[in-house]
Amino acid sequence: MIYLDNAATTWPKPPEIQQSMIEALNLGGNAGRGGHSASVQAQRLLHQVREDLCEFLGADDPTQVIFTHNATHALNQALFGLLQPGDHVITSSLEHNAVTRPLKVLADQGVEVTEILVVPEQEFPWAEYEQAFRKNTKLVVTIHASNVTGTLLPIERIGRIARRHGAFYLLDASQTAGVFPLDLGHVPLDLLAFPGHKGLLGPQGTGGLILKPYVKLKPLLYGGTGSLSESDEQPDFLPDALESGTLNGAGIAGLGAGLRYLKAQGLDKIRYQEQTLCRRLTQGLLEIPELTLYGGTDASAKAPIVSFNIGDLDSTFVAFTLEQTAGIVARAGLHCAPHAHRTLGTMEQGVVRFSPSHFTTEEEIDRTIDAVKMVARDLA
Ligand SMILES: Cc1ncc(COP(=O)(O)O)c(C=O)c1O
Repeated sequence: MIYLDNAATTWPKPPEIQQSMIEALNLGGNAGRGGHSASVQAQRLLHQVREDLCEFLGADDPTQVIFTHNATHALNQALFGLLQPGDHVITSSLEHNAVTRPLKVLADQGVEVTEILVVPEQEFPWAEYEQAFRKNTKLVVTIHASNVTGTLLPIERIGRIARRHGAFYLLDASQTAGVFPLDLGHVPLDLLAFPGHKGLLGPQGTGGLILKPYVKLKPLLYGGTGSLSESDEQPDFLPDALESGTLNGAGIAGLGAGLRYLKAQGLDKIRYQEQTLCRRLTQGLLEIPELTLYGGTDASAKAPIVSFNIGDLDSTFVAFTLEQTAGIVARAGLHCAPHAHRTLGTMEQGVVRFSPSHFTTEEEIDRTIDAVKMVARDLA
């Protein structure tokens, strides 16, 4: 198998991830649920990963790190926790359904939503963005990089403008956490949602939300936290307020191992390898006349995603053929981002998305280019 679907979830995972998960399973305790040594050890492990996430993402308070099941859970917690009927939110036309669908529910409940048309390869529409702010604008929410084209948004300026208008900025870093250095101390962000199972190399079932201390959220879930058990009221301090129920201890241990791996390798080195692979892949695909590339050819301006179509062939059919003929695993269709596809004009066809990781080899990239050439020749 040539695995080119790292934008969905990364594979392979370094062996240390599995090892840490087994060790965590062997601890035998439930974090924060008891004073015995197994529970305390499990609690320490969680706290260590909160600290490691802070160090990795430039946050300064581990209690502001909320563990979630995935990025979708983190985004839902942020959106439903913050917005109320009468509030206004600004978003982009490149969002994943993890943002679009909660916003639809909130719009039905009376939250006003403005979607700015953001087109890959075009200048960010600064004038429209500025004009979209209203007195009741509470939040701006955007992706950091599109999961369809890899396009990076200019988040520093988006955040600065949001701040000037007194709105919070929530970033969906699903395609960038563990891929680009992100520094919450410098980028004007108020909430950051991330999956643990993509660039951070953790297992599925992990993710998180990091909040600035002044951001107050209503919980999505209420229940046992291991703290203030005598009270019927949800604790109001973090992380307990937003972390009801038993956490995914083994998964979080795996996420911690992913962070240690990334630190040891160096994010710059990984980014360089991924860019080099994407550049090679893009150049090879550009030689195919029937092929349309989406999101531009500059690998340095994108997350490690290369998306394309061959003529007017259905993208799922192309991906299926690539797997059948060459063992290439890629994601086709709409990638849970219909608004992004509407923006690109690919609602009918979808696109084939290749997303290599630093584990992908140059030889795999060359075999992939050859396989696409063959499919283009045979099918087009
Ligand atoms: C941009 C973006 N946002 C949100 C998500 C949802 O992530 P998760 O599956 O971890 O909930 C994804 C997953 O592909 C994504 O690419």
